[in-house]
Amino acid sequence: MNKLTVPHLLGIKYLQIEDLKLIFKTASQFKEIINRPIKKVPSLRDITIANLFFENSTRTKLSFELAEKRLSADVINMSVGQSSISKGETLTDTVKNILAMKVDMIVIRHPHPGAAHFLSNQVNNCSIINAGDGTHEHPSQALLDAYSLIEKLGNLKGKKIAILGDILHSRVALSNIYALKMLGANVKLCAPKSLIPKNIDSLGVTISDDLMYVLNWCDAVNVLRVQNERMDINYFPSNREYNQNFGINKQTLEKLRKKIVILHPGPINRGVEISSEVADSDNTIILDQVENGVAIRMAIIFLLGSQIKISA
Ligand code: NCD
Repeated sequence: MNKLTVPHLLGIKYLQIEDLKLIFKTASQFKEIINRPIKKVPSLRDITIANLFFENSTRTKLSFELAEKRLSADVINMSVGQSSISKGETLTDTVKNILAMKVDMIVIRHPHPGAAHFLSNQVNNCSIINAGDGTHEHPSQALLDAYSLIEKLGNLKGKKIAILGDILHSRVALSNIYALKMLGANVKLCAPKSLIPKNIDSLGVTISDDLMYVLNWCDAVNVLRVQNERMDINYFPSNREYNQNFGINKQTLEKLRKKIVILHPGPINRGVEISSEVADSDNTIILDQVENGVAIRMAIIFLLGSQIKISA
């Protein structure tokens, strides 16, 4: 198979295992290219991509933009603070105007779950990529996390992967669950009970609030940031107490029976979910995730972009 089964990347939920394999294979080819002295390829020279960021972002935005430029696409950027959204324009109006400028692909980050999906129903001959929709999905992050884990651990079938932290408000958590389950991993969630969504076990994951048990069980743990900006009430007494019960520091790792791999999607809240010493240690693959993020996003854009070129 050399074509994705979907015209948009809205969530991992809509992908098949063949899509994941194709994205990983394509990303490996691009990873080799971006490590060459000449990092740019002409693959998407006639494609125009708009990056619409209605929420703050550092690495996802830079990573998408770099991936687009490495593929020689034409790129335009819009961040909400500098746009007419602050003058009351609707999402549909903003996008219709952008499409009138003959844009082929839109990368969108939006605070509302379902925003990318909504947009995909409004457009023709344009691919939508979800770069994070509220607390819902963040598919490119899950793909780069899974790719980085495979690089480190090999085939994920039967591997034990923990997701630790604010599962309730994290789009990284849901996309990771879908991707890891599809790849055959055993997934365990670890968080205070107040940060575990109701019925999440229906996705085939197990749950525990015992950090040491979970860390001793797993081969790798994906540590998530507490998403304070999405909390309207207190879900736990204080950051200090969260850190005491769910934070990972050097002493935590010393007590484990084996060495585990630690991922973090960033941005890190040093001293809350992870100590600086651990974040900067060789247990983590945080910077590998960032490097792989560019290759994975090149693969996603290339595969969707090629489909636009074919249908044009
Ligand atoms: C994540 C996000 O925005 O959901 N970050 C990212 O994309 N690198 C995770 C987070 O904000 O904690």
